[in-house]
Amino acid sequence: MDDLSRYLSGLAPEHDDVQAEMADYAAEEGFPVVGPAAGGTLRVLARLTDAESVFEFGSGFGYSATWWARGMAGGRVVLTEHDPDELDMAREWLSAGEYPVSFDYRDGDALSIVTEYDGPFDCVLVDHQKERYVDGFDEVREKVAPGGVVVADNVIRGPADFDTLVGYSEGEPIPDDASASTRGIAAYLDAVRAAPDFETTILPVGSGLAVSVRTE
Ligand SMILES: C[S@@+](CC[C@H](N)C(=O)[O-])C[C@H]1O[C@@H](n2cnc3c(N)ncnc32)[C@H](O)[C@@H]1O
Repeated sequence: MDDLSRYLSGLAPEHDDVQAEMADYAAEEGFPVVGPAAGGTLRVLARLTDAESVFEFGSGFGYSATWWARGMAGGRVVLTEHDPDELDMAREWLSAGEYPVSFDYRDGDALSIVTEYDGPFDCVLVDHQKERYVDGFDEVREKVAPGGVVVADNVIRGPADFDTLVGYSEGEPIPDDASASTRGIAAYLDAVRAAPDFETTILPVGSGLAVSVRTE
């Protein structure tokens, strides 16, 4: 881990008991959860937006959902996951915690599930297949409340190649042999940065979050 990541992790908020169990399980299994530094950012964003309605593309076993919930006074978090076993684990863990929200557990393709909701969403997490991030944004953008946020994980670390993304940020074309994940992250950053009704900033917490706020 580099010094910046160690610093941000060292200053991240404490897990609650359920989150601590989930984090141990993620570490044992090598499962990519957002972690406490990025999770703490989700909690702050939920609080800043007075979030009552949250939608996640790719929830795994529910770890990121707990961070949103810890920043909310009530309302609902929609979890989507196409692995039913993970969703079962989410049900078990989230019901063991004391979160002041209801959880909507949706098994299937997040991109299809989102079409069943009208919104408005105060907060959205984009954390499914990287090559389909743009599709997720396109489906959800009109359903985000003004002042609401869309947060995409893995824009610095994870399956995308960071060196290629640095070149992309400096205006170089994405090489033909770049992975689908690398292309997906670059395309997502293109899309949110070009969206006239969103402003985007990148935070180096966890695996790197792109935070886009809806301005109108
Ligand atoms: C990085 S993990 C999510 C971690 C979670 N957000 C957290 O931090 O606790 C990505 C998850 O998305 C799921 N997934 C990927 N594509 C999906 C899709 N199109 N619809 C639903 N789930 C999807 C995967 O099965 C995996 O569990």
